[in-house]
Amino acid sequence: MKAIRAHEWCGPRDLVVDEIDQPQPGDGQILVRVNAAGLNFPDLLIITGKYQFKPALPFSPGFEIAGTVEKLGPGVSKFREGQPVIAQVPAGGFAEYAIAEEAYAHTLPDSMSDEEAAAFPLVYQTSYFGLVYRGALEKGETVLVHSAAGGVGLAAVQIARALGAGKIIGTVGSDDKLAVVRDNGADVALNYQTEDFVEVVKRETSGRGADVIYDPVGGEIGERSTKCIAFEGRLVIIGFTSGKFSNFVSNHILVKNYSVVGVHWGSYRHNKPAQIEQGWNELIELYQTGMLKPVIGGRYHMENVADAMEFLASRKAVGKVVLHW
Ligand SMILES: NC(=O)c1ccc[n+]([C@@H]2O[C@H](COP(=O)([O-])OP(=O)(O)OC[C@H]3O[C@@H](n4cnc5c(N)ncnc54)[C@H](OP(=O)(O)O)[C@@H]3O)[C@@H](O)[C@H]2O)c1
Repeated sequence: MKAIRAHEWCGPRDLVVDEIDQPQPGDGQILVRVNAAGLNFPDLLIITGKYQFKPALPFSPGFEIAGTVEKLGPGVSKFREGQPVIAQVPAGGFAEYAIAEEAYAHTLPDSMSDEEAAAFPLVYQTSYFGLVYRGALEKGETVLVHSAAGGVGLAAVQIARALGAGKIIGTVGSDDKLAVVRDNGADVALNYQTEDFVEVVKRETSGRGADVIYDPVGGEIGERSTKCIAFEGRLVIIGFTSGKFSNFVSNHILVKNYSVVGVHWGSYRHNKPAQIEQGWNELIELYQTGMLKPVIGGRYHMENVADAMEFLASRKAVGKVVLHW
């Protein structure tokens, strides 16, 4: 089978299309024939060796796949061969076949295409965990979503709207992304490269600030967010697309009574697997009511993964970039 692999810590252009043996599913695992896979910012990080988790080389990136069950490992009871599935995998999704744990695979809802399925798991789970479990979002609260036209950002806007948030304010890095943020449920969208988001949030909340701030960007954006967070607000750290961490000042956190909380969705697999199942069921229910709808901003053949990765890194992508065979 074909597999896109990194043989060393490298950039997108150094990935190789290898011909390798099909993997065999072990206990509790399924072999999935991959039709489509979602591309995520962490795929850009994992190939350079800058991600939290470093797989053994050589490896295939790819955290989420949609396809059909090709083969069942011993003890698998939830699936049958030929069934359409969505699965989250620790790596290995950018290949013709991938191994998934039965526990992290789900049957595809009837109305969901392979493309939507590949675009769904990671960004919606991360945003749901960020807003609901870590951000403790309540109905009617104001939410500020940074990089709101991106993968996790657009999912966060849709989820906040679906869960009854009050005002939703989204920031983006260029004017051409403003409309998609509004179309997906934000009341206010602004370009944080040309407008001061702190002033906009203060104006939109009569000086009160945002109750939940969702930050996939980090660096100065995270730091400045503390200037427009409400009393008892929650600043949710999702990631660092800026390439920089934020430094938060502890006495400011104390004086303004806010919390800074992190989300690493992957850690829930080991620490609270039941919560993943609960989050998944709630998300699928929202998808089926039509309140969540993945936005596909780029489609690439799997062998053109370098083009897809460069597109994501260029800051031009909107929503999710999907790879297919
Ligand atoms: N914590 C978790 O469990 C978890 C899970 C999944 C993803 N993440 C993190 O969430 C973040 C977003 O992931 P994603 O897959 O949804 O990607 P994404 O948001 O689609 O990432 C691309 C966007 O990032 C923004 N960005 C800001 N500064 C950038 C820079 N210096 N270079 C490139 N892009 C920049 C750009 O949008 P604007 O210019 O419009 O801002 C760009 O379009 C990443 O940091 C990722 O690691 C975390």
